[in-house]
Amino acid sequence: MSAGAPALLAVAKRRGDRGRMDAARPEAISPTAHYTGYVWARNGLSDPQLATAKGRLLYEALRPAMLLSGALGGPTLESYLLARHRALDVLLERAISEAGVTQVLELACGLSPRGWRFARRYGSRLTYIEADLPAMAALKRRTLKRMGSLGAHHFVADVDVLRAGGPGSIPGLLGRLRAEEGLAVIVEGLVGYLETEALLGMWRTLARSMSAFGAAVYLSDLQLGGGAGQSVALFRALLSVFVGGRVALHHFHDAAEAERALREAGFTEASVVPAPALISPRQARVAAGASLAHVASARVGDRRA
Ligand SMILES: C[S@@+](CC[C@H](N)C(=O)[O-])C[C@H]1O[C@@H](n2cnc3c(N)ncnc32)[C@H](O)[C@@H]1O
Repeated sequence: MSAGAPALLAVAKRRGDRGRMDAARPEAISPTAHYTGYVWARNGLSDPQLATAKGRLLYEALRPAMLLSGALGGPTLESYLLARHRALDVLLERAISEAGVTQVLELACGLSPRGWRFARRYGSRLTYIEADLPAMAALKRRTLKRMGSLGAHHFVADVDVLRAGGPGSIPGLLGRLRAEEGLAVIVEGLVGYLETEALLGMWRTLARSMSAFGAAVYLSDLQLGGGAGQSVALFRALLSVFVGGRVALHHFHDAAEAERALREAGFTEASVVPAPALISPRQARVAAGASLAHVASARVGDRRA
């Protein structure tokens, strides 16, 4: 581990004592959407309009630590993010092409370009709803409107994933979709910030409301714990410092435990795999961070989605 790592770990611990990354502090999670938005754009996955000055600032602030971590053979946040983003793209493409999904709800969409990319690719064959907390949703809506992407098949909605029902909740949004058509719900970059009980509650809400659809699949990234070395601890500390609070980076020890939790929440089938298993070796090669990323897919209902 680098010489600066213990200091970073200490800062992260102090910050962890101050606050938790749960529903009470969503404003502490949102800056990370600017960071990831910038990462997607600088890697050619997005339109520059979805990259903000704030994202660039955060990226440049973290760059020296990431360069150091990469030089020491440790993980970089960027390789981790790219692996999970591409792996989720692959799972979503499969759900659409092989299993008849025609409706996508992307929760905690932030400044992710996925909705824009999929909307351009599939046109009126796909309805893509992006959703986030009101302030982030408003920024995304304004930006996509400027990019000419919004319309009857691509729109942005307000949501709080922790709200159990009513307007601005997951059930409220899903109630606006056609239950007789295939559905995918995708969420990237949020679950790692939720306390375990909040995450399990969101999964229960999702499984219950997705069961109204004949075929429905849930896709998300997931961090698994256990066996993490010092470089992983550094990576987590950096993230905590960066987002200004404790990052609950893993809820489950391994894939089997996460799959069991998804089934207990109400999904009929669940699978958790390392992100690099789904993407090309060239894409996964980038750096050690990629191997830390895992993705979950889970289904409800008997029919395939
Ligand atoms: C790390 S960013 C990820 C953004 C995007 N998915 C990406 O990968 O670039 C986390 C996002 O979660 C959103 N968020 C935080 N708490 C939320 C909540 N309770 N309900 C919905 N979205 C939430 C934030 O506003 C932010 O856009």
